[in-house]
Amino acid sequence: MKVTVGVTGGIAAYKAAELVRALQQQALDVHVVMTAAAQQFVSPLTFAGLTGHRVITGLWDSDGQVPNANSAIEHISEAQSTEALIVAPATADILARLAHGMADDFLTTMALATPAPLILAPAMNVQMWEHPATQANLETLRLRGATIVSPDSGYLACGMLGEGRLAKVEDLVRTILDVLHRRHDMASETVLVTAGGTREPVDPVRFIGNRSSGKMGYALAEAALYRGAHVILVSAPTRLDPPTGCEFVPVTTAEEMRQAVLKHLPRATLVMKAAAVADYRPRLRAEQKIKRTGPITIELEPTEDILAEIIKLRQPGTLVIGFAAETENPVEHARGKLSRKGVDAIVLNDVTRPHIGFDSDRNAVTFLTANAAQELPEMPKRLLADRILDEVQQLRRPRQIVAEMNAVSILAKR
Ligand code: PMT
Repeated sequence: MKVTVGVTGGIAAYKAAELVRALQQQALDVHVVMTAAAQQFVSPLTFAGLTGHRVITGLWDSDGQVPNANSAIEHISEAQSTEALIVAPATADILARLAHGMADDFLTTMALATPAPLILAPAMNVQMWEHPATQANLETLRLRGATIVSPDSGYLACGMLGEGRLAKVEDLVRTILDVLHRRHDMASETVLVTAGGTREPVDPVRFIGNRSSGKMGYALAEAALYRGAHVILVSAPTRLDPPTGCEFVPVTTAEEMRQAVLKHLPRATLVMKAAAVADYRPRLRAEQKIKRTGPITIELEPTEDILAEIIKLRQPGTLVIGFAAETENPVEHARGKLSRKGVDAIVLNDVTRPHIGFDSDRNAVTFLTANAAQELPEMPKRLLADRILDEVQQLRRPRQIVAEMNAVSILAKR
């Protein structure tokens, strides 16, 4: 399996050689890209000698030609063929350039062009690390799905004490292996995700809606795509672009969502119902815009419970995960939904907590099953999506173990 290590210009650049060796010991085929600044600290020859591959040092040769005559678009071919792009050490400068989507050297261009996961191991002076600009850039990159391996604390090359030392090589390797494992662990799944808030028309210009932005559902769709799943995203209106590569099914009302979900359900191996679906809709929709006269009454009727229908119609083995947005006694109410609706798990959102949940880029949830509750603390929704999918994968495992044990006992009886 091929991975690419991007080395940038910091004093910790020499530690990248150790990282390359450690990754090779994990049977990974390591390629190296160096920025111009990195070459001031370590020679490309060091990495060429270690890896047995030409080290990529720029987009252009000194005579203005592309460096590899065989590939005029080498940054694209590298970007497409690698399974992970690891930037270690990542300076404050590269974090800023990646956060802003710059593409003025090989590494930044490749980072934009690759579908592979991006893993960043920052190393810098403690004040540079703590600077709000650096922290804002990191947050932007995290929200886009990058994995950040935070630096260690200790004496820094500049003589100061604090956070900023490149993380230990063994910690980096562990994170890289985790990310690579996740990259393919849902390849056999077809995930049906619902997202956004449905809209129930009152008249041609008004509707009853809710505060869901779709961010949580889209983050789940993106995370599942990243992990190799086929994703069907049934989405109520949002301001978001559908993640590249998903099968996108736009809907507006609860009834449209119901029909779309039931149509695609037979293909799903996992259903994630993150959408906030209207529980009531106007019984009648006015043909014309309602004029302002005096008080009016709008009669509401209940919508169908889509989740209940999914549970009745799902294929054996299809996991169904409900979401619950609660404003009082959250655990008690969510537990009630878990048993009443018969879902495999409920992702509980306490939507009374400020700054997270609805429309925020961050969230904190509790993953509830019949006999366990796992708190997932506040973090960007894209990261949280991966943590939720990790919990879902755990639900699969006991069944797989039982299936394997059954297979063993059948063989033993023969
Ligand atoms: O979209 P964001 O701004 O990122 O916010 C995320 C979120 C808070 C909306 C989301 O994570 C969340 O909690 N979604 C579920 C909200 C909700 O509708 O909860 P509920 O308790 O009303 O419904 C419970 C479950 O039943 C949900 O999975 C819902 O999709 C489903 N349902 C509800 C009504 C209905 N008629 N049919 C359903 O299937």
